[in-house]
Amino acid sequence: MLSSGSPEQTYTWGTVLGTLLGRGDVLALVGELGAGKTTFTQGIVRGLGVAEDHYIGSPTFTLINEYEGRVPVYHLDFYRIESPSEVVDLGLEEYLDGDGVAIIEWADKIAALLPEEHMMVRLAYVDCSARTLDIMSTGAHYDEVVASLARKVSFGTGSVTGCIQ
Ligand SMILES: Nc1ncnc2c1ncn2[C@@H]1O[C@H](COP(=O)(O)OP(=O)(O)O)[C@@H](O)[C@H]1O
Ligand SMILES: [Mg+2]
Repeated sequence: MLSSGSPEQTYTWGTVLGTLLGRGDVLALVGELGAGKTTFTQGIVRGLGVAEDHYIGSPTFTLINEYEGRVPVYHLDFYRIESPSEVVDLGLEEYLDGDGVAIIEWADKIAALLPEEHMMVRLAYVDCSARTLDIMSTGAHYDEVVASLARKVSFGTGSVTGCIQ
């Protein structure tokens, strides 16, 4: 479990994770609105080599945004879907078993469609500047990614920047 004390910290951890991901990887993100999934994703996309001046938004209406980094990056966001059947037309398999990295916000909405082996990060709100990131993996490959991440970031309390409420 990681504790983040600021959006910048969540972003930075994303960039570290991004450097560790590669072709075919699937990262499921879960957590309430405002938990930090998009902030984390923005860091990951940078870590995958997408240029700093390239704006990374939320694919809330389009369901998917694609970026060209070190490998193709697919940012999916299923906030708006009510049933997994709504993503059938999207050709989800192509993104999940594809040539790039798939990062899926609200992955719990399509849980049954996720590949058996994947990495999952559950983000949770603590207070206005703090979040927790609970990191899970299934399969030896993702266990290794998580182990590498653990070597690069210090698990524990993030620096708290204070709340203005
Ligand atoms: N430690 C933190 N990590 C990530 N976001 C944080 C943190 N503290 C405050 N925030 C704020 O919470 C919001 C997170 O929004 P966002 O990343 O879009 O969440 P989600 O995609 O899960 O809905 C942003 O406004 C961000 O500035
Ligand atoms: Mg989001």
